[in-house]
Amino acid sequence: MKILVTGGLGFIGSHTVVELQNRGFEVVIIDDCSNAQEDVLDGITAITGKRPLFEKLDLKEKNKVEDFFKRYADVVGVIHFAASKAVGESVEKPLLYYENNIGTLVYILKELCKKNKASFIFSSSCTVYGQADKMPITEDAPVKEAESPYGNTKQMGEEIIRDTCKIAPNLNAIALRYFNPMGAHPSGEIGELPIGVPQNLVPFITQTGIGLREQLSVFGDDYPTPDGTCIRDYIYVVDLAKAHVVALERLLDGKNPQNYEVFNVGTGKGSSVLEVIQSFERVSGKKLNYKVVDRRPGDITSAYADTTKANEELGWKAEYPLDEAMESAWVWEQKIRD
Ligand code: WQD
Repeated sequence: MKILVTGGLGFIGSHTVVELQNRGFEVVIIDDCSNAQEDVLDGITAITGKRPLFEKLDLKEKNKVEDFFKRYADVVGVIHFAASKAVGESVEKPLLYYENNIGTLVYILKELCKKNKASFIFSSSCTVYGQADKMPITEDAPVKEAESPYGNTKQMGEEIIRDTCKIAPNLNAIALRYFNPMGAHPSGEIGELPIGVPQNLVPFITQTGIGLREQLSVFGDDYPTPDGTCIRDYIYVVDLAKAHVVALERLLDGKNPQNYEVFNVGTGKGSSVLEVIQSFERVSGKKLNYKVVDRRPGDITSAYADTTKANEELGWKAEYPLDEAMESAWVWEQKIRD
């Protein structure tokens, strides 16, 4: 069966393409390469031995999307990663985020509604919860006022899909709310490729470890947590990729009782910033140079997933502990710097 993966050259997208191919799916990737390199295709091919089909397309161009679905009428499912995802940038350029993250979603959904049956997996985020009142966070925790246009596009995206599924019984969709993805494929062929100064913690740690960055700034240690630093649920990207394949197969096999569902995808374990630093020091054997500075505006204190629904209904569970995910991130960092 042929699956379209939009944003399939990106960090999570490329790892998902590998897992789809491992499960025997034929994959076509659409990517505009605005935030990914085309040679990621070589990395995917090196791992699976199968080169995915690739179309360099801007999904903001409606006629290009229509034309794609005419040429690939045998696509039975879509996993939609393509979106802008920098929280800070979204505050400065909201319209770029609404056009790119919402406009493209609408065009793809319009094409899927023309099909007799279509399966759709949406890349959502725990950011929709804001600072949840209760830990661990369940899927029925209230969606809070978005802290950024980026987070708002995830909330709006879920609502658009939900409303569409209400009038399109032929459309079956799952929104996966990611917690904090990290790490790289164990082969060392694909991984996270942040452009410029990394916003996220783990790539900043590994770049500091390798000497590319002078020092990690820890954004505040005066939070109401055991060691004062923020807590997040760091999930290994390969575990996360596998969750997408399991969710897609649930829809293709008609095992979904409703045609719109939401699942948290995390490990269920919270780790503080200092614990992540200690993980890096354990796996690398190096002392990390860091200093505590002021809090970063917009950061929440704590977020980690209640994974019961994904474990019991999807039959998926994260398998890799923090240190193994960190080991893969460190190996990858050293490889790309060689
Ligand atoms: C994690 C923790 C920081 C960098 C964001 C988006 C979310 C998703 C994942 C897309 C926080 C601390 C970080 C640094 C630090 N993105 N930190 N020094 O903010 O939980 O989530 O990325 O879907 O939507 O909001 O991830 O990695 O930026 O931060 O101390 O140099 O590390 O304060 O507590 P975050 P993060």
